[in-house]
Amino acid sequence: MVRHKLRSSDFLSLDMLDGDELEDLLDEALRLKAEGVKGFRPLAHRTIGLLFEKPSTRTRVSFEVAVITLGGHPLTLSGGELQLGRGETIEDTGRVLSRYVDGLVVRTFGHDRLTALAAASGVPVINALTDLCHPCQALADMLTIMEYKGSLAGLKLAYVGDGNNVANSLLRAGTLLGMNVTVSTPESHAPEARIIEECIEHCETYGSSMELGHDPTYGVRGADIVYTDAWVSMGAGEDPESAREAFKGFQVNDELLSGASDDVMVMHCLPAHRGEEITDEVIDGSRSAVWDQAENRLHAQVALLGMIFS
Ligand code: CP
Repeated sequence: MVRHKLRSSDFLSLDMLDGDELEDLLDEALRLKAEGVKGFRPLAHRTIGLLFEKPSTRTRVSFEVAVITLGGHPLTLSGGELQLGRGETIEDTGRVLSRYVDGLVVRTFGHDRLTALAAASGVPVINALTDLCHPCQALADMLTIMEYKGSLAGLKLAYVGDGNNVANSLLRAGTLLGMNVTVSTPESHAPEARIIEECIEHCETYGSSMELGHDPTYGVRGADIVYTDAWVSMGAGEDPESAREAFKGFQVNDELLSGASDDVMVMHCLPAHRGEEITDEVIDGSRSAVWDQAENRLHAQVALLGMIFS
């Protein structure tokens, strides 16, 4: 049983939640992780389609397990094996799939592709990553910080690297939850302007702060959490060599972390490119929270599905 329901049946991005709703979701995740789902089976006799147009390890597998945990049947579909690969529109695909399944978890390219599918579908749609954002990742990230630090408001969260979909969702979540977020990127890889505008409003509403810049040493100073991600995002089409050049100085290593808080925790959404955005010593070291963070994808998504389908 969950104590809260989502206001919207779709979960396309964190801008569908306010700070209280996001806190409720995280509280449900903490509780379900601690107590287990027991007899809670909101997906019994339901099938959830998992439509992935891009590769995935964590998101796909954790959603499959989450659906099974809640009594449902996951049906995984890759874009290439559907008529999508031969030109059928995303809207028509959504219209048809939603006649067969009770919900859709979708990883795709442009965010407008996801919103078009959701508008045409008659069942709840969940974002499993688009080029704009990765809200399910941010749920697991915040859950992990709560576990390690006890609370969120007032903590300094320093993101270092590419201002990509993960950074966008982290900014949204952190500023909805009263955190002080710094984002250090190369000038050519800053977060989306519309996300920044939205997060400025969050800062006013929730007493959070946000600072964007291009100096990671400054960005991580005194940070409670340092977070990074791959320099070349999946499907972005950027030449890896020119990306490596742009990201010189943005590696999360012992030297960079020497300026952070003594009890800093290090996060990475994975997959990691060891020796590029993060060193072996850091990802495998005592400050690393990445394996708990990866596990929490499952617990956060159990709560999310429970709040949508109960
Ligand atoms: N973090 C994340 O989304 O991992 P996958 O690409 O493996 O799903």
